[in-house]
Parts: sequence; structure tokens; C-alpha cells
Amino acid sequence: MSSKLIIALDFPEANKAMQFVNQLSPSDCKLKIGFELFISVGPEIVRQLIEKGFDIFLDLKFHDIPNTVASVCKAAAKLDVWMMNVHASGGSEMMSAAVEALNGFEQRPKLIAVSVLTSMTDDQLQQLGVNATAKNQVARLAKLAEQSGLDGMVCSAKEALLLRQLMGENFLLVTPGIRPLGVDKGDQSRVMTPSEAIKAGVDYIVVGRPITQSNQPLQMIAEINAELIETSLGLNNI
Ligand code: C5P
Repeated sequence: MSSKLIIALDFPEANKAMQFVNQLSPSDCKLKIGFELFISVGPEIVRQLIEKGFDIFLDLKFHDIPNTVASVCKAAAKLDVWMMNVHASGGSEMMSAAVEALNGFEQRPKLIAVSVLTSMTDDQLQQLGVNATAKNQVARLAKLAEQSGLDGMVCSAKEALLLRQLMGENFLLVTPGIRPLGVDKGDQSRVMTPSEAIKAGVDYIVVGRPITQSNQPLQMIAEINAELIETSLGLNNI
């Protein structure tokens, strides 16, 4: 069974990231590269990690006019990333352009949407002229992403259960804000354990600091993978 764990590789330098990754095997996890590492180091790190056999989620949240987003998605697909994302609030035309741009690739990367940033409150949405609660806006954007041909969505642990019910089985849900039991929450406020996330219908969990800042990252990875497998097997037996 391929791992449902995506490790957020939030490092400021290539050598720190590589030092960490050199302990890992591609069967342990997939890797997420976000702005910090990509802006500091550039696309070369993506190539290096793919060469080592890792599936890469390029978390750069594209949001621009349809033509530009289509071009940047193509550029990312040429790197052979496994997954990438765009902002659903860029609209259906932008998302469809991104899907079309990727359709030409033999190994088509998965394309998922970012909906309402978890830092946004209902009040902040009102300030932007969005007269919906964050929860309703997330649901609306999920439907729009699906209609535009996207494969799924990044969602908070809090939204996962609702989105799974609303979107059915085939819509990928990828969830950060995961904290194994007994681990410090840090700046994440609404967290779920790996097991709770799987029970809520999440396909992949994103975990960063509980692993990257652990004194025993390999043990932490092994424990999380064991919890994910045990919970998935338990659900399949129901
Ligand atoms: O270290 P931690 O486990 O909190 O890392 C979570 C990762 O997921 C970070 O890379 C963070 O940027 C990302 N993320 C998040 N919350 C969101 C979207 C992305 O924590 N709503």
C-alpha cells in the first residue's frame, strides 16, 4: 500500500532539505515543496528528489489569468511532479485552462484546488465582498473545482468530513494541520490526528514540523504510517 503521508519539506536551504531526505525512502512518504524551499533553491531540488524516486507535491498555489496559469502548470508538469495546486478562487475558466494544459502529459500530474485559506474568518470574507460563511464558500469552491475537472482539494481537518460527504469517494482530499497524539500543536489551531483524518475520509495527510523537527524523524514516520495503515484496514473491514 503506498503511503498516505506527505511530508512538508519546509526548509530554507537545499542542503538542510537533502540532509533530511537522505534518511528517507520513497516508500515512506511523498514530499511537499512549498514557497520557502522553491523560492530559496529553485526547481533543481524538485529534479533531484524525483531522481531519488520521490513523488513531489509542488505546493505553489497558482493564481493568475487562465493563460498564465496554464503555462505555469505545463512548466511544473515538465518537472514530472506528482501533484500541484491552483487557487479555486481564480475561477472555473482558470481551473479548466490548467486542466487542459495538463491533459497533454502522458503522466498527468494530479491537480488540486486551494479553497478558502484557513487563516480567513467569515468577517474577512465579508470584507472581500463574499457574503458566505467560510464553510459554505469552501463547499461552493469544491463543486466548482470538480466541475472544472480538478482531482480534488486541499482542505482543513475541520472541513474534511463535510467535503467527503458532499463530493463523493473519488474527489481527493489532502489535509494539513495533522498532529499525532502527544505532539505539540505549534501554530496550528484546529488539528486532527492521522487516524481521525483517515476516518473523516482524507486521502493524504500533510505533516511538517512534527517530523522535520523531531529528534527521531524515522520513528515518527514509522508510527504515523502504522497508524494510517491500521485505520485504513479497520475501515475496509467495516
Ligand atoms: O509543520 P506543519 O505540519 O504545520 O506543516 C503543514 C504544512 O501544510 C505547511 O507546509 C503549511 O504551509 C501547509 N498548510 C497548512 N495549512 C493550510 C494550508 C497549507 O498548514 N491551510
